Amino acid sequence: MLSSVRVFAPASASNLGPGFDVLGLALGRPGDIVDAELADAPGVEIVEVTGDGGLLTTNPAQNVAGVAAQSVLSHLVATSHGGSGAGLLDRPGVRLRVHKQMPLASGLGSSAASSVAGAMAVNELFGRPLTRRELLRHALAGERTASGSTHADNAAPSLLGGFILIRGYDPLEVLDLPVPPSLRVVVVHPHCRVETAKARALLRGHGFPIEQAVANLGNLGALIVGLYREDLELVGRSIEDRLVEPLRMSLIPGYRQVKEAARRAGALGCSISGSGPSVFAFTDSDAAAARVAAAMREAFREAAGLESDTFVGPINTTGACRIE
Ligand code: HSE
Repeated sequence: MLSSVRVFAPASASNLGPGFDVLGLALGRPGDIVDAELADAPGVEIVEVTGDGGLLTTNPAQNVAGVAAQSVLSHLVATSHGGSGAGLLDRPGVRLRVHKQMPLASGLGSSAASSVAGAMAVNELFGRPLTRRELLRHALAGERTASGSTHADNAAPSLLGGFILIRGYDPLEVLDLPVPPSLRVVVVHPHCRVETAKARALLRGHGFPIEQAVANLGNLGALIVGLYREDLELVGRSIEDRLVEPLRMSLIPGYRQVKEAARRAGALGCSISGSGPSVFAFTDSDAAAARVAAAMREAFREAAGLESDTFVGPINTTGACRIE
């Protein structure tokens, strides 16, 4: 058993056009870091949260990293796991430090990254008794605290890495999709906020015409075919969302212009990242990704007067990991 560990969990882009609540991918950066150490007092204590501008609580029952960590800890105590079960029962407490390194309410899976890092840090501390996939339901306990709903399309890619499809939620079934080697993802985060819970409330009770559902089904299937065939043009063409984007785009100032700028700069496809306000695009090279990122950034500035951060690179196929 280790006395302390540090875990990094990456940001993620989810929905990815037609895949509301079922598609997501992991980014190389940004991401959150959680430090965990053994403590004599039982339960989870959050000693500090940094990088959140004072917005997050250190109450472990309300902080997503604390909730996920407590979920793993309770499971380990209940099942007497933990490398040496006796050791765990002797010292059943964990102290956490949560370092936010990405914006909140950004569409980058910030709460999912903290939840994943909290869950994985406890598991690592006790000698990795649970598999990565077993950690997912504990991370989702944290994610639920933030958004009030169980959606795994950010937590699963942050934890597992890669391009992920959630086949179903009951029971939860998470599938890995292929990652074409030349696919590049651009995420542009304008300096404004969209609360996921509010963006989800916008969809509640909305009756969707069957034609729109059919369009999304076709695009979702085609996107997956494109990944398997490494047909990036097909992947890009399938980034079309007739269900959610029309309702949520009003939450993102300048969205139409940013999407058009991405297209003109050569993006294969472009849509809202998670519940926004970040916007993602796919390209087939680093050079195209840099061009598209610059064009989208400029469009946010011109159309909405918003500065933004850009994150560009290949899909992160590692997911959350222990760091020194
Ligand atoms: N699928 C979720 C949503 C992701 O769009 O509400 C939230 O980041």
